[in-house]
Amino acid sequence: MPTLIARNLKTLKEALSRPKFRNKKIGLVPTMGAIHMGHLALVDKSIKLSEVTIVTIFVNPIQFSSKEDLKNYPKSIDSDIKILSEKKVDLIFIPQKKDMYPKDFSTYINLKKFDSILCGKKRKGHFSGVATIVLKLISLVQPFQAFFGEKDYQQLVIIKKLVEDLNLGVKINSVNTVRDKDGLALSSRNNLLSEEQKITASKINEILNKINLKKLKNQKDLFSSTKKNLNFYGINNIEYLEIREEKSLELYNSKLDKNKNYRVFIAVRIGNVRLIDNIRLA
Ligand code: PAJ
Repeated sequence: MPTLIARNLKTLKEALSRPKFRNKKIGLVPTMGAIHMGHLALVDKSIKLSEVTIVTIFVNPIQFSSKEDLKNYPKSIDSDIKILSEKKVDLIFIPQKKDMYPKDFSTYINLKKFDSILCGKKRKGHFSGVATIVLKLISLVQPFQAFFGEKDYQQLVIIKKLVEDLNLGVKINSVNTVRDKDGLALSSRNNLLSEEQKITASKINEILNKINLKKLKNQKDLFSSTKKNLNFYGINNIEYLEIREEKSLELYNSKLDKNKNYRVFIAVRIGNVRLIDNIRLA
């Protein structure tokens, strides 16, 4: 059966009432479009592990802190549909803003944990916006499971907590970060980089891979050595660079616990483009 496309709540409801979707183990893959191989890794995993796969494409305005950023967010809806249809996803849900946020919309998820650190520090309301849309999508689609990338690691932790705290009963699956041949984490925002900026951006992963947790004295030490390396390649605008325990997201306090895993998290600006990455440290 060809991929179905629902462009509003009514057509989504109609599609979901078809025998193809009724009482099936649905895999949900929420995206904001400009589909790349990172998104497709989630789609592949969902197709493998679910009876039917639904991909959503919605550039969620309430998770953007600046109008400019929202306006510049890359959009390629026709090619997204083509790529996802070739993948044989069962349904693509592409709602309009008025479907998700009608005029009198007034209920937002309020996060008490994890949203004032890392990406939440500068992007006020960002994760509340993410949690609100993800909750809405889960509530509309009623999936058995949903798929999220480790590329947005803080988002993944927040969504797992949302599902646990609100008893949503949806399994959250994660997928490793997909990178290009130079190590640059794939991101829709990479479309906004020039070729030269892309080469600079690929140094981020290379530099993170050099961090040796056992040799680091403390976070300050991390910052001075890694910052030097980033600066060498012209990456001067560093929003954060931190090592955190990967479950609690607590800052690494220089005492290694063998039973825990640690990740380094980074956000930088290259030109006007904000890029994030993270890797688990050995
Ligand atoms: P978006 O940036 O489009 O990403 C959609 C999903 O793809 C997220 O789970 C993200 O972590 C994953 N992803 C992006 N790049 C990846 C990569 N290189 N490797 C692996 N996975 C990758 O994240 C969002 O949209 C939005 O915040 C959303 C969850 C859809 C809510 O609006």
